[in-house]
Amino acid sequence: MNVLNSQSIMSYSDEITINEVGPRDGLQNEQTIISTEDKITWINQLSRTGLKYIEITSFVNPNWIPTLADAEEVAKGIERAPGVLYAALVPNEKGLERALQANIDEAAIFMSVSETHNQKNINKSINETFPILDKVAKESISVGKSVRGYLSTVFGCPYEGPVHIEEVIKVANKLFEMGIRELSLGDTIGVANPIQVQKVLDALLKYFPSNQLAMHFHDTRGTAMANVLASMNMGITKFDGSLGGLGGCPYAPGASGNLATEDLLYMLNGMEIETGINYKKILSSAQFIQGRIKRPLPSHSLQACR
Ligand code: HMG
Ligand code: MG
Repeated sequence: MNVLNSQSIMSYSDEITINEVGPRDGLQNEQTIISTEDKITWINQLSRTGLKYIEITSFVNPNWIPTLADAEEVAKGIERAPGVLYAALVPNEKGLERALQANIDEAAIFMSVSETHNQKNINKSINETFPILDKVAKESISVGKSVRGYLSTVFGCPYEGPVHIEEVIKVANKLFEMGIRELSLGDTIGVANPIQVQKVLDALLKYFPSNQLAMHFHDTRGTAMANVLASMNMGITKFDGSLGGLGGCPYAPGASGNLATEDLLYMLNGMEIETGINYKKILSSAQFIQGRIKRPLPSHSLQACR
């Protein structure tokens, strides 16, 4: 679709998929511990909004991410709505064993492009990580579960600074070889700008189809929405969002919340782009979690309601 005329620089798809990562990315970096019951209530609300992908928790080592230590209880406690894919982060075989016992639909495997963030986040070098994730992916697929991949620090690393595009392509390729159905490209510390996003995508799209790439923008410096538009202009149709603008990686200093799902949805609705998601229900779920976290969240839509 072109919004202006044949000279338009704005061309984008009529349909966009929003993947909700709030219950995982949103809560992993919070000081407030949300009760298991409230997490379940919140996820059940999200299941009724029209979202088709909800990342509900993380089967990482609970000592590393204490706020998600109740992963099993959450995964077993929620009501599963038909047509919704319930995913969780899985770092290794131990995590997969737990995730399978909790009957998760999809394993989300993750690693970084930069060596130092990978080491700080999952305690392994990049080369040590490949065989671990390969096993997780193969085993998941062998028992009928799909696998999604995350690549962190694609646009910059909190420890090493700039990241080389050749490294992004190399690690992305390894993850696709493992059998992931989709790769989410993470701006972990929210440093990307639209021109950089277009340069990175221009390089990646020579190797990987646009429908297998998703963008995961953190809004640390307010550039996330501009980066979404830049990605849409390159043919990307899948974006991760987090209700309320919650989120951040505890092992990435300076990381703050993801792009708020409701802000993204508001913009897409205004542009008459189909998502299948109900804005009022999303906003009400964002208000619910804001009430439980007991502080104003970064979401612009929530601020507009005050
Ligand atoms: P490790 O300490 O190196 O693990 O942690 P290990 O294999 O040496 O095992 C040590 C102990 O941990 C053992 O127990 C294991 O059983 C246990 P012990 O024998 O000593 O009693 N253990 C586990 N327990 C439960 N579940 C598990 C598990 N694995 C080992 N899965 C590990 C390695 C990867 C587990 C750890 O570093 C970890 O959990 N890291 C996760 C950090 C994290 O969650 N970061 C945030 C998510 S990534 C992110 O936010 C970025 C993203 O949003 C995209 C973006 O924004 O860029 C995805
Ligand atoms: Mg993230």
